[in-house]
Amino acid sequence: MSKFTVLNHPLIQHKLTIIRNKHTGTKVFREVANEIGELMVYEITRDLPLKDVEVETPMGKSTQKVLAGKKLAVIPILRAGLGMVDGVLELIPAAKVGHIGMYRDEKTLKPHEYFVKLPNDIDQRELFIVDPMLATGGSANMAIEALKKRGAKHMRLVVLVAAPEGVKAVQDAHPDVDIYAASLDERITDSGYIFPGLGDAGDRLFGTK
Ligand code: PRP
Ligand code: URA
Repeated sequence: MSKFTVLNHPLIQHKLTIIRNKHTGTKVFREVANEIGELMVYEITRDLPLKDVEVETPMGKSTQKVLAGKKLAVIPILRAGLGMVDGVLELIPAAKVGHIGMYRDEKTLKPHEYFVKLPNDIDQRELFIVDPMLATGGSANMAIEALKKRGAKHMRLVVLVAAPEGVKAVQDAHPDVDIYAASLDERITDSGYIFPGLGDAGDRLFGTK
């Protein structure tokens, strides 16, 4: 069974409340969603491996640390996942970015894939799949399958708000993919939205409806 971790740092909780508020407009929603993405990735990357290197400072030679291990890539699930990418790239500016386009049918809640464009060395990278919402888990599961089909081996799912149903669906289907959320919310409503959630993340990010 994969790990499910709620990253409840006070700054993350505070910022999440800002974007939950229905009176928060597009500009602030965008800024704060990216800030939460950045804070989450800061927490998640605590376990990245390091190696020793020799560095010559103005004072002389010494042994210091740099990142070792796999290169990273960020994979937003379109559209709403785009709202977390800039925040992640603030911390990991050299990461490659792959895109997976997915939308949920409003009636059936089933996901439909419409676009996949990935770095060609995806099999050698550690992937951070980002999407603000994990509701039924259908979109995340389809995105993970699309990545695995193309050779991806190491990935983590990073969401702002998760519903218990979505966490279980991903853990059941992909026990190798750890999940990180800023909040585990109560449930999914009859219309398929997370409660209390934050509404339709894509519409709030892009000002559509
Ligand atoms: C939202 C969200 C997730 C999905 C979650 O996307 O960004 O991708 O719903 O729901 P699920 O867990 O039940 O699959 P949406 O389909 O609204 O598309 P958008 O990002 O283009 O708005
Ligand atoms: N997608 C959203 O954008 N919001 C939800 O609450 C559920 C799925």
